Amino acid sequence: MPADGRARAILFDLDGVITDTADLHYRSWQRLADELGLPFDRAINEHLRGLSRPKSLRIVLADRWEDFAESERAALLERKNRYYLDSVAAMSPADAFGGIPELLGDLRAADVRLAVASSSRNARVVLERLQLLARFDAIADGNDVEHSKPDPAVFLCAARRVEVPPSRCLVIEDAASGIEAARAARMKVVGVGPPERVARADARVERAEDLRADTLLRLLAKARQAE
Ligand code: G6P
Ligand code: MG
Repeated sequence: MPADGRARAILFDLDGVITDTADLHYRSWQRLADELGLPFDRAINEHLRGLSRPKSLRIVLADRWEDFAESERAALLERKNRYYLDSVAAMSPADAFGGIPELLGDLRAADVRLAVASSSRNARVVLERLQLLARFDAIADGNDVEHSKPDPAVFLCAARRVEVPPSRCLVIEDAASGIEAARAARMKVVGVGPPERVARADARVERAEDLRADTLLRLLAKARQAE
């Protein structure tokens, strides 16, 4: 990628922003919790959004954490991932949220660099199923960083890969942990979801389908003015 002092980038979270894998994650955790006889529901699942698989397991096991040996916890992580990958295998391009492929096209036409920045270790396989992998200049995911969101590492990694400084990056996120990560990376962030979840974002849309290229480009321009 050419070094360009004026380059701008948009860094997309994946699960819950590009596609509804947030729900597939939820169903996989629910199945595991049911099998273990652990209390779990959508409200508990909200706390897992954006967190890595191991961090999520800690919340799912809660006060049963000590009942499982290290090797048993590793087996549970694998089991949850098997359930998740089974559902990912059934995904197709029709599973991208409405308007996302067009949005990526519009942003590309406006010369914006595009990256995915996700806590997931399965980001590439999901993007392949959606046939969107080639639409991004860079992918940074849970395989690239030691600390997951709310740590800023994955956004900083994505910014480095598209060769754009944080002040010229805009993040799109559905998770409270991801919004904190973007803020810690000193990037502007658009929240996707209800106000109680994304209140700390700089701007908000209710659903990913509501994202518009012109609005995102305006926010990017504002971020640059504030440099
Ligand atoms: C995303 C999702 C989380 C998920 C995490 C790890 O951030 O929001 O719900 O737990 O990625 O995903 P993985 O595919 O590696 O289990
Ligand atoms: Mg997400």
